[in-house]
Amino acid sequence: MSTAATFQALRTEEGRRNPYPHYAALHATGPVAPLTGSYAASVHGYDAVCRVLRDPAFRVLDAERLSRLMPSWQEHPSLTVLMNSIMFTNGDQHARKRRLITREFTARRVAALADTVTSQVDRLLDGIAELGASGAQVDFMKEFAFPLPSNVIGELLGVPAEDRAWFQPHVTAIGAVLDAGGDSKYPPADKAAAELSAYFADLVRQRRQDPRDDLVTLLSAAGEDEDTLTHEELLSALVLVFNAGFETTTHLLGNGLEVLLRHPAAAKRLREQPELAAPYVDEFLRLEAPAQLTTRWTAVDTEIEGVAVPAGSTVLVLLGAANRDPARFPEPDEFRPDRADNAHLTFSAGAHFCPGALLTTTEAQLAFPRLLARFPGLALAGEPVYRSQLTLRGHTHLPITVA
Ligand code: HEM
Repeated sequence: MSTAATFQALRTEEGRRNPYPHYAALHATGPVAPLTGSYAASVHGYDAVCRVLRDPAFRVLDAERLSRLMPSWQEHPSLTVLMNSIMFTNGDQHARKRRLITREFTARRVAALADTVTSQVDRLLDGIAELGASGAQVDFMKEFAFPLPSNVIGELLGVPAEDRAWFQPHVTAIGAVLDAGGDSKYPPADKAAAELSAYFADLVRQRRQDPRDDLVTLLSAAGEDEDTLTHEELLSALVLVFNAGFETTTHLLGNGLEVLLRHPAAAKRLREQPELAAPYVDEFLRLEAPAQLTTRWTAVDTEIEGVAVPAGSTVLVLLGAANRDPARFPEPDEFRPDRADNAHLTFSAGAHFCPGALLTTTEAQLAFPRLLARFPGLALAGEPVYRSQLTLRGHTHLPITVA
């Protein structure tokens, strides 16, 4: 099959559902393939992906690039909020904003959330136990994988519990502007961005008057000097943390559970040896990355592995394919939590490496052993229903029984 045909197959419903045979076909042709159309190349070999992610010539989508693609973008609050955030900023501005955010979002802060995560996990497991007591089907996504990360990020930021349910549809609407599709996504996304910004502006005001031990307080308490996020940057940072940290973690939980349910011997081992949670979670992340791809654009003529990338073009960076590169991971399609040196690229690499990696892995490492211990009869209760996207790959429904 030609590379063009492989990409055509990847774009179908079935290809998004199961991209892995197509990734294998790409690896057979080499680490980088030239493309025609929106992207100059597909970068999928492990070493090539590492190189692109670490090379400053390859930039994340930013205001400069968007101005060329969509001159009217500033009319959309959803896009102005996103473009002000670190995920869509490069170079010195990115380094400045990222330093100001990550100096408050520390390993100590994540460690301090561990007890809260544990009690949230147990509370959600109680709910599942009640719903599934008589053998009834329970949707793991609805009852666990969506509420857990939303509550944990809510705790981290300091969003009151009663406001958190309101966040999910808003965050989803903003995220939708990054997916393919027509202009109909903008009105709901713009409304959501305006409402979320207003909400955070109000929360920032409250925390400045009445400081608490949360990220909103810490990020908004910094002085008025230049070593501070501007008000717009602060609001963008808060919206982005919710946006980037919520559904990605949801799909780590859903994807990881499906792997366990399809590998009963491995599930039994983790039930007996909960101390193996860290390598299990890493292998879930490698095998079933919640975010399968990202992109980079370049303002200068360059190349990767001999494939020309002209100035002004964008490349597709297939993180999920790099994780299954047979040259890097022996038997890449196998679930093997014992792998040595499991340095997957699910959290990206280089300047934009995910700052939420520790929080999300901590959540998953606490959640899976408790779930297995609580429900010895945990089983899949029907065919899971999947989202049909590679940008965010996971389930909409994952039916289980627990009794
Ligand atoms: C399984 C869960 C998660 C996955 C798979 C994931 C994945 C990623 C990836 C791939 C990137 C970089 C994209 C690129 O290089 O183009 C990224 C960036 C980011 N992530 Fe995560 N993420 C997860 C959880 C979280 C959490 C829990 C938070 C926050 C609490 C978070 C906050 C961010 C932020 C703020 C960025 C932008 C960093 C920058 O551009 O400098 N993520 N994430």
